[in-house]
Amino acid sequence: MGYPRPSCLPLDHRALHARRLEVTLTDDVLIVHGGTPLQGQIRVRGAKNLVSKAMVAALLGESPSRLFDVPRIRDVEVVRGLLGLHGVKVSDGAEDGELVMDPTNVESASTDEINVHAGSSRIPILLCGPLLHRLGHAFIPDLGGCHIGPRPIDFHIKALREFGAVVDKTPEGMHLSAPNGLHGAKLELPYPSVGATEQVLLTAVRAEGVTELRNAAIEPEIIDLICVLQKMGAIITVHTDRVIEIQGVPKLYGYEHKPIPDRIEAASWAAAALATRGEIEVIGARQADMMTFLNVYRNIGGELKITDDRVARDGVTGAEGGIKFWHPGGELRAVALETDVHPGFMTDWQQPLVVALTQARGISIMHETVYEQRLGYTEALNTMGATIQVYRDCLGGTPCRFGRRNFMHSAVIAGPSKLHAADLVIPDLRAGFAHLIAALAAEGTSRVYGVNLIKRGYEDFEAKLAALGAHVERP
Ligand code: EPZ
Repeated sequence: MGYPRPSCLPLDHRALHARRLEVTLTDDVLIVHGGTPLQGQIRVRGAKNLVSKAMVAALLGESPSRLFDVPRIRDVEVVRGLLGLHGVKVSDGAEDGELVMDPTNVESASTDEINVHAGSSRIPILLCGPLLHRLGHAFIPDLGGCHIGPRPIDFHIKALREFGAVVDKTPEGMHLSAPNGLHGAKLELPYPSVGATEQVLLTAVRAEGVTELRNAAIEPEIIDLICVLQKMGAIITVHTDRVIEIQGVPKLYGYEHKPIPDRIEAASWAAAALATRGEIEVIGARQADMMTFLNVYRNIGGELKITDDRVARDGVTGAEGGIKFWHPGGELRAVALETDVHPGFMTDWQQPLVVALTQARGISIMHETVYEQRLGYTEALNTMGATIQVYRDCLGGTPCRFGRRNFMHSAVIAGPSKLHAADLVIPDLRAGFAHLIAALAAEGTSRVYGVNLIKRGYEDFEAKLAALGAHVERP
């Protein structure tokens, strides 16, 4: 079965208009009666940005893998479909959220079948190395994912070529082969890209010889992927200064793994607590992955209590821990922030937090240094009463790659602003959740179009909103 594509829109006005028409003609709309503080407890499961990669890693094994705590989100369905097309038997395990992936009979899929997934996700690019190892060839469809900038794949292609892959780009997608096998290489990324680091890991683990990757990404999801690969039999060393060394091995086996929790979803709910003056306990959230976010939360004036070790301490009741986030009353404080690679402030934390910053007294600055076009969503917040101005300059921090390239990548947020209801069209996953938070914080009734896009990365978000006392309904 196919998936609707493409699910996100570029931020130019013609596309935005087309997207408005497209979604306002469907019933993909949520009516949000805002102004009620969100209160209660919700749970986050395995991180979307690890789970999908761990599923790809299962292709490399010679025996079945089991992944636990997998959220029911659309990105997981896309990878499940792709694995299925390549002969991996994917089934639900006995536990809720358990996936069993059996790669014993990996086989080629036709380009037509694969193309059904074109535009649905960025993950297919990560199948290159595993498919080259298993089949000697691969076809990768046109990529999707959120349109938050050009999102090139040049680092991926350069690395694959250095491993010995032959890459042939055609209008229908990318054909790859490895006529002389894949061999370890000395690589250096121009920027610590998460995806390109994953590409190198997933290719190098079974390439012949040693691979050294410099300027690698070291996000917690990358370290967790390394844990998965080590469980499979890989030999990977993370050195200081973003250097990762991988000794190729001839065979890998299945794994059993419980992924790290979704720190992006956790931060999104934390921001919702602040923006709506509420209190949300995010069960499953983990302090170690969110330290930078937690510091910022406190600096703004939010309160938090960490109980993420509660299971270990409280074996009797089995009560699970997490992090509780709340607005303590009074006014929030403005901050100057910039997004960065780990251990910096994540680019995916930016959008929900900006909604909370519209409620802080003073001038806040958000300098986006990871993606060049990730502030377009602020326009909709301004129509709701926020005062946000975006600039080409690198404001409030060190100059970044985008400074002299004419990208609107710094936002100045003047607050506090009283938000009022509006009709909103969701542009991409994280900005979409930010729009939803703004509608929940605003006085009055908003119509949020295109909300199904949020299902790409937020499991059961409507049920969670209901559990938190939000007044939302489908028309
Ligand atoms: C991952 O995207 C995540 N997606 C993103 O989350 C996240 O925002 C991003 O990492 C940064 O943390 C998944 O894990 C599926 P990158 P990825 O390669 O790997 C440039 C979400 O909402 N670049 O680290 O695609 C690129 O343009 C999503 O969950 C190149 O120039 O991100 C960007 O400016 C959105 N050439 C920067 O590097 C390349 O070949 C970082 O991108 C690759 C990347």
